[in-house]
Amino acid sequence: MAGVKPGERVAFIAGNWKMNLDHLQAIAFVQKLAWTLSDARHDYSATEVAVFPPFTDIRSVQNLITGDKLELGFGAQDVSAHLSGAYTGEISALFLKALGAPYVIVGHSERRQYHHESDEQIAEKVAVSIQNDVVPVICVGETAEDLELYGPSAVPVAQLRAALSLSEGATNVVVAYEPVWAIGSGQAATPEQAEQVAEQLRYVVAEVLGGEVADATRILYGGSVKSTNIAGFLRQPNVDGALVGGASLDIAEFASIAQFRKHVGT
Ligand code: 13P
Repeated sequence: MAGVKPGERVAFIAGNWKMNLDHLQAIAFVQKLAWTLSDARHDYSATEVAVFPPFTDIRSVQNLITGDKLELGFGAQDVSAHLSGAYTGEISALFLKALGAPYVIVGHSERRQYHHESDEQIAEKVAVSIQNDVVPVICVGETAEDLELYGPSAVPVAQLRAALSLSEGATNVVVAYEPVWAIGSGQAATPEQAEQVAEQLRYVVAEVLGGEVADATRILYGGSVKSTNIAGFLRQPNVDGALVGGASLDIAEFASIAQFRKHVGT
């Protein structure tokens, strides 16, 4: 079956809402998403589904998910490298832990680009998340210029090495390969391109965290994922899911992506 990988990695479809939907919109959205998936008899044990709303929505989403016993996961889009103190505007991993947030996105290219996050800061954020039992979804990816200069995997590989540099011994991370040129462009990487980089990223996880952890680590592809191209990515041996931006804001489309096993023929 598509998506069942060596090491029994459960497929993971993650929706990064970016700066969209307020907390009231989030509640309505998550309710409808859960109904849509339940109508489609979604098998969460085979494909995990999670949403990553803005910070102001997370408490509402958590309340809904726990109150209604929904099987959806959730997480934040960023976290502070610090645990507490005089860091105006920052959110601590302790606060995410207190909300029971299973995941946090770290090092998204929009944070690297617009907020000038360095590899060192990202490594700190990854470490502080792991230390507080919040699984980091570590984003890496090359720009179009990097691709031309260095080829497809050199930059993502270096970014992942750096991101894991303070976290030797970690056992639970998710990696998202998101080529910057594919994000929001409508021009996704090909499944073969995604596989080529995902394989290299798995070697990095093996190098730093060991072979067993590498086998169990989910590596996602992100960048213009839609219901019409998802199945091709999930057929690749090293691609275990997707980090979806724009298409995660459309309930029917996102639910259809989560149901990728139904498009295996596409
Ligand atoms: P798009 O799916 O809109 O290309 O965004 C991808 C992304 O950045 C997810 O984190």
